[in-house]
Amino acid sequence: MFTIAGRTFDSPFVLAPLAGYSDLPFRLLCRKYGAGLVVSEMISCHGLKYGQEKTIHMLASSAAEQPVSFQLFGSDPDIMGEAAAILNDFSPAFIDINMGCPVRKVTKKGAGSALMKDIGLAEKILAAVVNNSKVPVTVKTRAGIDNQHITAIAFAKMSENSGAAAITIHGRTWAQGFSGKADWEIVSKVKDVVNIPVIGNGDVASYEQGLSRMSETGCDGIMIGRAALGNPWVFQQGGRPEDLALILTAVKEHLQLMEQHLDTRRLLAYIRNHIGRYFCHFAGSSQIRQSIHGCSSFQVLQDFINSLMNKK
Ligand SMILES: Cc1cc2nc3c(=O)[nH]c(=O)nc-3n(C[C@H](O)[C@H](O)[C@H](O)COP(=O)(O)O)c2cc1C
Repeated sequence: MFTIAGRTFDSPFVLAPLAGYSDLPFRLLCRKYGAGLVVSEMISCHGLKYGQEKTIHMLASSAAEQPVSFQLFGSDPDIMGEAAAILNDFSPAFIDINMGCPVRKVTKKGAGSALMKDIGLAEKILAAVVNNSKVPVTVKTRAGIDNQHITAIAFAKMSENSGAAAITIHGRTWAQGFSGKADWEIVSKVKDVVNIPVIGNGDVASYEQGLSRMSETGCDGIMIGRAALGNPWVFQQGGRPEDLALILTAVKEHLQLMEQHLDTRRLLAYIRNHIGRYFCHFAGSSQIRQSIHGCSSFQVLQDFINSLMNKK
C-alpha cells in the first residue's frame, strides 16, 4: 500500500512534474487512467510571490484530480516559505520541492539541480517550506551532480531529518541531463537509509516495468514522466491499447478537458503538441500527426478527431 504522511493512494504510480505538459487537463486524465498521485509543472516561488499571471494560471486545480502535489522551485528560503504559505490557499494535497531540474534557466539562479551543490541551502529551503505549509512537503532530486558526486543519500537523510514526508529520486545525475540511463541502484540505496517513502523515477516505460522496479529496489512508488505523454494507459496494466477507437476515446476526453480548462484559442500549438503524441505507434500515425499539426483551430482539430472516429 502506497502511503505518504498517512494518506493512502489507490495506486503507487505517480505522474511526474513535466513543465509544459502536466497541466490540469493532463493531470485529470492521468488520474482517471490510473495514476495514484499527480504533480504539477514546476511553479516559480517568485511568480507566486508577485502574483504573475502565468504562474497563477498554473495553480488551476479541481477536486477531481486530488490528490495533487504542487511543485515549487526557487533558491531563496524566505521566498520559498512565502510561496508555500500562498499555496495553502489552493489546497494541494502536497507541496513538492524541485531539487533536480537541470535546465539552465533554473540552475543559474541556484535552484533545481544547483541545490545539490549546497545541501545547507537545500535544508534551509525545505525547513522554510515545511514551516509555512499546511500540507506535507516532499522533495524531488537526482542521483547526484555527476558520477563522482552522488548526493542522493545525503539529500534523502537531510530531507527526512528536516521534515520531508517523502522523497523522489530520479536516477540520473545533473551532468547527464536527460541522456544515458537512469541508475536504479541509487534508488535501492536511498530506500535502505531512510524511513520516509521513496519514489523511484527514470525511464519507466510501462506499468509492468514499474512494478519490477518496485520489487527490485523496494521503493514505495514509481514516478513516470515522458512515457505518459500521449499515453495515459502507462498507469494501467496492459498499457496502450491497440484499438484505434480506444485511443481516439482518450484523445476526445483529453480535448474535452482542454476545452473546459484552457484558453484553446491562445494555446493551439500547445494543444496540437499534446494531442499529436497519441499518434506515434502504428502504421499511418505520422500522417495523422501531420494533419493534427496542420489544424488551424481547436474546432478544426476536434472535427478532425471526430472524422477519424467516424471512419472506425
Ligand atoms: C518536458 C519535461 C519537463 C519536465 N519538467 C519537470 C519539472 O517541472 N519539475 C521536475 O522536477 N522535473 C521535471 N522533469 C523531469 C521529470 O519529472 C522526470 O524526472 C524525468 O523526465 C525522468 O522521468 P521519465 O524517464 O519517466 O521521463 C521534466 C522532464 C521533461 C522531459
